Amino acid sequence: MKKAQIAYICQNCEYRAPKWLGKCPQCESYNTFTEEIIQSKRYEVKPIIGAKPVLFSDIELKDETRIKTGIEEYDRAIGGGLVPGSVHLLGGDPGIGKSTLTLQIADQLSKNGHKILYVSAEESAAQLKIRSARLGISNKSSIYVICETQLDSIRSCVRDLEPDVVIIDSIQMIYKPEIPSAPGMITQVRECATFMTHDAKEMNTTFIIIGHITKEGTIAGPKTLEHLVDAVFYLEGDRYQSFRILRAIKNRYGPTSEIAVFEMTLKGLEEVKNPSELFLSENRDGRTGSVVTASLVGSRVLLSEIQSLTSPCHSGFPSRRVTGLDHQRIHQLIAVLDSKYGFPLSHNDVFVNVVGGIRIEEPSADLPAAIAIASSLKRKSVDASTCTIGEVGLSGEVRPVNQINLRINEAKKLGFKKIIVPKGNSKELSVINDIKVLAVSQLIDAIDLCNL
Ligand SMILES: Nc1ncnc2c1ncn2[C@@H]1O[C@H](COP(=O)(O)OP(=O)(O)OP(=O)(O)O)[C@@H](O)[C@H]1O
Ligand SMILES: [Mg+2]
Repeated sequence: MKKAQIAYICQNCEYRAPKWLGKCPQCESYNTFTEEIIQSKRYEVKPIIGAKPVLFSDIELKDETRIKTGIEEYDRAIGGGLVPGSVHLLGGDPGIGKSTLTLQIADQLSKNGHKILYVSAEESAAQLKIRSARLGISNKSSIYVICETQLDSIRSCVRDLEPDVVIIDSIQMIYKPEIPSAPGMITQVRECATFMTHDAKEMNTTFIIIGHITKEGTIAGPKTLEHLVDAVFYLEGDRYQSFRILRAIKNRYGPTSEIAVFEMTLKGLEEVKNPSELFLSENRDGRTGSVVTASLVGSRVLLSEIQSLTSPCHSGFPSRRVTGLDHQRIHQLIAVLDSKYGFPLSHNDVFVNVVGGIRIEEPSADLPAAIAIASSLKRKSVDASTCTIGEVGLSGEVRPVNQINLRINEAKKLGFKKIIVPKGNSKELSVINDIKVLAVSQLIDAIDLCNL
């Protein structure tokens, strides 16, 4: 009898080794190798179009009307609704609210007359019912539930029921018995997801697949899964705080810059229509190292508070800790403040944080971050009704940002009285009442305007 071939596969990056390794030579992660039996034969999947090439002009466009879930925040974050036949991967830490969100989506979709199949591979029907009762899901809702882990019976159920949307909770529990590795192993996860992707395209059914996150913060099983599916979303948030952010990592049918903000309540995830109010802490008066900025997140402006703390360093190696902003840019700002304007930061530890777990990726947060560091170092606070925006260059110049009027309007809406903006944006400024707009060309001018 032919001996089964065994390989050791890194569960993080799929690197294959002939023997067990403690550290992966490819992704450098530790203890990620597991033994898997190599499958010589790949399962046959029915082709979608057929082997014959078709003329581009002959391809028929199926009905691509997006399915609106009715949860506005979610619809906006995914690009305007679910595209029929698309496959979404939803990742997130344990207990963050993945099942809650998908059950709420299922409920809304069923209210809009869509047929939903909820495949619960982790929880029993009774457990689901308890959650649905808590979320206020009607008994009359047309959500079909199966508690099944075998891929083939799930597939036959999908074929019989022909639902509009299938929710898989979660991919790590689904398995195909013919594949010799255990459920959750990379081979199982990849093969099962491949079948689901083919079914989605063939039947024009949308699949929302829940995936668990590894210790390293990526969806377990993974990178391959991210390539297979059409869109990848992460539900993030601090488990000790109530708000959750849905962020797109990849989206073939929409932008990846949008986010959706929810608040976890007893009745499930509730949409936060104006997240700026949530992320700005109250009583900022007299607080050193705290500056508010207006950044562009997708199509909307988000006001957030950047905090900094500087403290004398006694070790000779000053520490820099950054949360929510680009680490390299903060290093750059520290160098500008130190070498250009004489702020003694080479003898100070610097901590910078964006309040509320928000991540600001655009450079417009440079100016507020630099002012926050200067404010902490000088032990002087910035007026709480001031907002600042601007990119800072290596010579300390303040560079223009886009969508300046949108940002000023949002700051005004939230009661800010003064806003410091780049001089380069002066030409595009519209007349906006009730907020004083101060344009600066150098970082030091902004620091002076803040009376630091
Ligand atoms: N009775 C309750 N009241 C308020 N919040 C609750 C209640 N029960 C659960 N929650 C919230 O719901 C969260 C669990 O949600 P859910 O089961 O949807 O998470 P999940 O991401 O699917 O978890 P898992 O990875 O274990 O499947 C809890 O962490 C808690 O915040
Ligand atoms: Mg769950």
